[in-house]
Amino acid sequence: MRRIQEQSVVIASEVEPGGYSILCALDGVAKSAEGLGREMPIKTIFEPFRIKSVEPIRWTTRAQREELLKAAHNNLFLLPADDVLIDLLTDSGTGAMSTHQWAAIMEGDESYAGSRSFVRFRDSVQNIVGYKHVIPTHQGRAAERILFGTACKKGDVVPNNTHFDTTRANVEYVGAEAVDLLIPEGRQPSLDYPFKGNMDVRALESLVERVGRKRIPLVMLTVTNNSGGGQPVSMRNVREVSAICRRHGIPLYFDACRFAENAWFIKLREQGYAEKSPKQIAQEMFNLGDGCTMSAKKDGMANIGGFLCTNDDLLAQQEKNLLILTEGYPTYGGLAGRDLEAIAVGIQEALEEDYLRYRIASTAYLGNHISAAGVPIVQPPGGHAIYIDARAFLPHVPSEQFPGVALAAELYLEGGVRSVEIGRLMFAGAAQMDLVRLAIPRRVYTQSHVDYLVEVIIEVFRKRDQIKGMRLTYEAPFLRHFTAHLEFLGQVDVPAGSSGSGG
Ligand code: F0G
Repeated sequence: MRRIQEQSVVIASEVEPGGYSILCALDGVAKSAEGLGREMPIKTIFEPFRIKSVEPIRWTTRAQREELLKAAHNNLFLLPADDVLIDLLTDSGTGAMSTHQWAAIMEGDESYAGSRSFVRFRDSVQNIVGYKHVIPTHQGRAAERILFGTACKKGDVVPNNTHFDTTRANVEYVGAEAVDLLIPEGRQPSLDYPFKGNMDVRALESLVERVGRKRIPLVMLTVTNNSGGGQPVSMRNVREVSAICRRHGIPLYFDACRFAENAWFIKLREQGYAEKSPKQIAQEMFNLGDGCTMSAKKDGMANIGGFLCTNDDLLAQQEKNLLILTEGYPTYGGLAGRDLEAIAVGIQEALEEDYLRYRIASTAYLGNHISAAGVPIVQPPGGHAIYIDARAFLPHVPSEQFPGVALAAELYLEGGVRSVEIGRLMFAGAAQMDLVRLAIPRRVYTQSHVDYLVEVIIEVFRKRDQIKGMRLTYEAPFLRHFTAHLEFLGQVDVPAGSSGSGG
């Protein structure tokens, strides 16, 4: 494999492709992304932490990985994590905690009711979001279930820029309709546009006109837009959506999982925000809404947890009643006191400039290096992940033969890298694209790991003509991607372990 010769590429131009530098220049602050707040322009991506505790990675050979993948029926979900070298399955709950978080964990108050850890958690969350009620939950989807279970009913319509899959499922579970109103630019993978997560405000206006305000219990904005490539939403778009909502008396909620990354993109790309801190930007955004759901496993920097916020007293009361029924008492919501402490510290750390600068630059570095080698990706690079366009990567593999799964399998075979297919296997015939998501855990991998990833992906790209399509040998009746068994076409199927055939 080719070693990367030029690691000291000018990152500034990578993080801010042309259009965004112009935005900064217009604002009279033609600073590079890396230069912001620094004395001298630094080209190296600098991890703003040193390592106190390490977790070994077990090296495997290609021959071993071939056996391991066969035993996992070519489904990366079925692999033991110890047999993965670089795990990019998700950025959810997989981050490394700081010394401050571990120290706070020791302060955890495990009292059932009135725990002081809850007070610290509530105050820290409120300091950023400003909402009146903060309700802890065990993770994001629990917050979604309680929000939609309380605020929505059969026949209602919930608009979002793009619903994440658990969000959509929770809306549909109560018999409401989940409508995605992403701007058209957000649906073109190769198009470079600064805020591809924006909601189409005209489409929102006409939806409100068509179905009527009474059938829309709330509007939601997902920041950043995970299902649409980790792309940000601009403050201007939030303001416009908020104005429409306020005019019609509809509450605006944020799916705030990656709110800190979204704030950083606003700082880099939107006129008038270069001098504001990520926290000020986040506060301004939340102030335009009425509540949020949050998975603290992302920008909460914790391994578990979430919360639900609202300004509505009556709704909060109903939500807390449902919380007691299924999650726990409102001062712990299904979490341990120590988890509340980890989130209280982590959510503030997620807004630190040095951290965000490193995080977004590192993700962009991966995207830009593989893109420069010809690998088709969703442009521009998102905050938490790079998405490879598997249909363009493997044009000889039709969508029915799962190009995303085949590519993800090959990335594992080549370099022990675990990614996730978002396409035909996950969504069956409804898949608009076949993508492979490389989600980057927070503060876990170093720049050398990223260079290794670039090497592996480019090597697989070089050999792309040899990658075969796949077929299913077993599928579950729903959410089939988690447990499916597949085989490469043109190979003799020798099922390892127990039975591998079915549906
Ligand atoms: N909303 C968004 C935008 C998400 O990305 C996720 C989770 C959730 C809600 C649900 O949160 O997992 O704590 O219940 N996304 C993870 C991922 C699973 O891999 O993208 P949760």
